[in-house]
Amino acid sequence: MKQNNRTIYARLFAFARPYWGRIALSMLASVGVAGSDALVAKLVEPFIDRIVVQGDFALAKLVPFFVVALAGFKGFSRYVQSYFIKTAGQLAVQDIRNSIFKHLLSLSIRFYTKNSTGKLMSRILNDVNLVQSTLSNVVVTLVKESLTLVALVTVAFYTDWKMALMAFVAIPLTVYPASRIGKRIKYISKRGQGAMAILSGTLEQAFSGIKIVKSFSREINEIDRFECQNKKYYNYSKKTVKYSALSAPIVELISSAGAAVALWYGLQRVMTGQMTQGQLFSILTAISLMYTPLKSLVKVNNIVQSALGAAERIFDVLDEAPDIIEKSPAVELSNVKGEIQFKGVSFSYEDKKVLENFSCEISPGEVVALVGPSGAGKTTLFALLARFYDPQSGCVVVDGNDVRDVTQKSLHDHLAMVDQESFLFDATVAENIAYGRDGVSTDEIISAAKLAHAHDFICSLSDGYETIIGNRGVRLSGGQRQRLCIARAILQDAPILLLDEATSALDTESETKVQKALSNLVNGKTTIVIAHRLSTIIDSDKIFVLDNGKLIQSGSHHELLQQGGLYKRLYDMQFSEQSSS
Ligand SMILES: Nc1ncnc2c1ncn2[C@@H]1O[C@H](COP(=O)(O)OP(=O)(O)O)[C@@H](O)[C@H]1O
Ligand SMILES: [Mg+2]
Repeated sequence: MKQNNRTIYARLFAFARPYWGRIALSMLASVGVAGSDALVAKLVEPFIDRIVVQGDFALAKLVPFFVVALAGFKGFSRYVQSYFIKTAGQLAVQDIRNSIFKHLLSLSIRFYTKNSTGKLMSRILNDVNLVQSTLSNVVVTLVKESLTLVALVTVAFYTDWKMALMAFVAIPLTVYPASRIGKRIKYISKRGQGAMAILSGTLEQAFSGIKIVKSFSREINEIDRFECQNKKYYNYSKKTVKYSALSAPIVELISSAGAAVALWYGLQRVMTGQMTQGQLFSILTAISLMYTPLKSLVKVNNIVQSALGAAERIFDVLDEAPDIIEKSPAVELSNVKGEIQFKGVSFSYEDKKVLENFSCEISPGEVVALVGPSGAGKTTLFALLARFYDPQSGCVVVDGNDVRDVTQKSLHDHLAMVDQESFLFDATVAENIAYGRDGVSTDEIISAAKLAHAHDFICSLSDGYETIIGNRGVRLSGGQRQRLCIARAILQDAPILLLDEATSALDTESETKVQKALSNLVNGKTTIVIAHRLSTIIDSDKIFVLDNGKLIQSGSHHELLQQGGLYKRLYDMQFSEQSSS
């Protein structure tokens, strides 16, 4: 979304507001810096007229003291100014980073399926960094240089307004090219930050898929892809450099023309005795001192524009509206018995229809299995139950409450899920098991691990429960990872347990053991199992058979076998596989 600069400034300033004290202090110090420069220009007049021309030696003795005192004062002011404004900038940027992260976590799963991890990280790190490195510098420069400019202009006009006018007529002429260049830079910067995000995305993909990259020998291709993206980023940076490098010479050329005219006019006036030599040099000093702030101001405009490009990207993320919105007030689920109903649920991801008028009822404490070919929509049913998505029609009901009416926290507190991906954090085994709860004792962790048949292998790890596992659990086998995830769900001790192919990576023997453990655990809990091997769900109270997002059969194992149809076909297929192996 394109936002106008004024809105972006306003929003950036809103982040700076809490630190106004630091900013004010810094601005005060800027007055000191600007004042010192103006004083130098002003003092040139008595220096030349009274010391050089008239030979006032008493005054001459004071000159060294003035020089040192002035330098000391200016140095101190500069320090105060820079320290406070930069820390204010850092603090504001820290807040921006926090609020982006907080906002991102409030967004739905749908948002994450559309945006890659690498790109999102780039927003929080690269875009914010660009804003950070520029904003504080900008405020300093803007305040200091504008004040310096005003002070110098005042000195020049005070000394001889006619000559000053000639020198300054040129300044407004520099505004137009400078602003054109600024606009260009903002546009390029935004594109450049986009290229940086793609670059981060490439990195993230290559690192997280490193095993695939290596086993398919795609290193060269990944390197090419990275180098190509890197070059694209360079091309944007090159353009930014080109435009900012262009702006200083343009400004200098235009303002030199003004200065040349002023110099010519000034010399005429000194020759005709309308102006002293001291006055001439004073004005010339003021004019030459002005180049620096003038050029910095143009440069700062370029920097601001590129920061605005990045800020626009940041605000785009902050403006991303969550599509799963909690009702207010929402019902706080408590003492959930575990009754679950899907009532005429139809659901599609974007335009892909997944579930069609799906209905089923699960009574408290029941163990239910969902069976069907892959892609039938089983995992999607779990996602709807956890309200990761809202159905387009129909509703999902837990203990009589539509999940859209309850707080997300209380809903999630009552669901323990082991999902297909067995994700583990880059933390210790114990921390991974205890992830869902605060203040868990070691004994609780160990007993959950025992129930999940994970205790023995955990003890054989180098540091036992304190062993760090990589963020993809690279040091664990698929079955071990699944058992840790099961332990995590067990420890959560929620009344509804959702197992999505939670034992698929286990060998048949461990699977049977873990299933047995789960059946102890599921006592009294409503459990929905999506099972890979049908042999593990034979004892379920009820089996729902899904095909293409529709419920086509339901009943107990024996009823379904008698009915024939898809269930019997799937069962016979697995049974013959088992007996032949
Ligand atoms: N995030 C998603 N975006 C778009 N389509 C999806 C998404 N997740 C799953 N699907 C599609 O929805 C269908 C059902 O998926 P899923 O519920 O995971 O099936 P199952 O768990 O039964 O194998 C599949 O065709 C799959 O391609
Ligand atoms: Mg699935």
